[in-house]
Parts: sequence; structure tokens; C-alpha cells
Amino acid sequence: MNTVKTVRELRAAIARARAEGKRIGFVPTMGNLHSGHVALVEKASQRADFVVASIFVNPLQFGPNEDLAKYPRTLAADQEKLVSAGCHLLFAPTPEEMYPQGMDDQTRISVPVVSEGLCGGSRPGHFEGVATVVTKLFNMVQPDLAIFGEKDFQQLAVIRKLVRDLNLPVQIFGEPTVRADDGLALSSRNGYLSAEQRQVAPQLFATLKDMADSICGGRDDFSRLTLDGLKHLEKAGFRPDYLEIREAGSLRPAQAGDKELVILVAAYLGTTRLIDNLAFTSHP
Ligand code: PAF
Repeated sequence: MNTVKTVRELRAAIARARAEGKRIGFVPTMGNLHSGHVALVEKASQRADFVVASIFVNPLQFGPNEDLAKYPRTLAADQEKLVSAGCHLLFAPTPEEMYPQGMDDQTRISVPVVSEGLCGGSRPGHFEGVATVVTKLFNMVQPDLAIFGEKDFQQLAVIRKLVRDLNLPVQIFGEPTVRADDGLALSSRNGYLSAEQRQVAPQLFATLKDMADSICGGRDDFSRLTLDGLKHLEKAGFRPDYLEIREAGSLRPAQAGDKELVILVAAYLGTTRLIDNLAFTSHP
């Protein structure tokens, strides 16, 4: 696997692969790779002949009081994981390479409606930062397909809409969340948790499962279920940011009678913000 740091080198390497008639698959990441990322790269290598990954901790998607400075940067370990997962080319640019004119002056992509509320409500500007960097990366790599984790459910919805609305010639695939044996969704931010917090963390997914079971069992009093879920999380030691039941396709608030649902949660354990979701069919 070759690692390149500039757009020029990236384009040259991709032009060579294209000239050989290869189909390009792309997995954008912020690094500190875990088995969830590895699964995305493995999927990309099943669907494409030439797999490109990127590692870039994108400052544009972090708020002023968020964890940009302490976000784990583990390039050497990440490179090893990418090689064994079947990646052919790694793009690991600097912020100066991605934003040569600085960030204040950067043209931005804003994706209405699906970006609003949930993580978009508590992290103003976050999805604009994600949509902007993903559009730039798509223009740099020009992949045939790109793969994202479903753990970031709202992000995936934002990217699907962005690609549709701007007619970007890239096929988007979502891959299921990879979980630890106790149910905790794998995340680079799990590394911030203390041993005690790590014991509590699986309650996040357990709460989603309980709520989904209740809905599949016939309950449609979504407000009551949500309040009970929030209470459960608080009792377990979380400080919930949001817990919401939404219609899975549109992400609008769920109504009784909706079949395809997703329950989305963000909650703090100490200073660590964890997110998770559970999508399911309520009346099979
Ligand atoms: O999901 C992530 O790791 C990031 O938001 C992404 C898509 C790589 C954009 O920086």
C-alpha cells in the first residue's frame, strides 16, 4: 500500500489505476482505525478493484469546544490495519493540503433538513464540515463507490442526499455497525472511556433494544417510551444529549403507523460523547 499526502500524488496514483481499467472504491476515515473501519475497507475490496482510504481529522467538522486536539492520531498502526484489510492507496493529507486558503475562506456545502436536529442540533456546523470535506474528497479521488458506517446514521443520510442533490457520480453504500460482544458500538472515542465508564457504556445500545422491543410488541406511545429511555440512561450514569424515534427513510419524527423506524441516541459518559442507533421494521 502506498501512502500519499498531496492531492497531486493522489491524482497521479488514481490515474494509473484508472488507466488499468480499475474500479475505484473509497473509504473516508479520520483514522484511529478499529474493526468497524476494517470491515468497510474489506467491503470496498469486494466491490472494487482498487481501494483508496483517507485519514484526515477534519477540523471543519469540530466545534470550538470539541475534541479536535485530543482526537487520537495513530498513523503507523492504521497503515498496518489498512494493508491487511486490502487497501491499495492511503491519502493522509495535512490540514494545509485540504484547506490551502484556510478554513474561514472555504466554500462550504450545506445539506438542508436531514442535517437539522439530532447531532446537527447539538453540534452546529458539524454536518456542513462533513459535507464539505466529503465533497472535496470525492472530487479528489473521483471514486466509483464509497462506503460509510451506519453507526453515523444521520451522517450517512446527509451524504446520500448530498450525492443525490449535486448529481455526484459515486455510489454510496452503508455498512452495519460493528459492536463489541457486550453490544457497545465500536468507535474511536471509546478509547476516552475509563474502565468504569466502559462497563456502563453498553447500556446505550441496551436502551435502544428495549425501546425497539416495546415498539415491536405494539407500543406506539413514542413520547412516553422516549422519556422512559432517557430516565433509564440517566439512572445508568449517562448525561443524555438526545434520544429520538424517527422514521428511518426521511429522519422526520416518527408517527404511530410508521413501519421503518430508527431510534437515535447521543449521550455523555463524563466528557465523552457516544452515539448509537437502531433501525428496525416495527410491523414485519
Ligand atoms: O465518519 C467520519 O469518520 C468522518 O465524519 C468523515 C466521513 C471521514 C468525514 O471527515
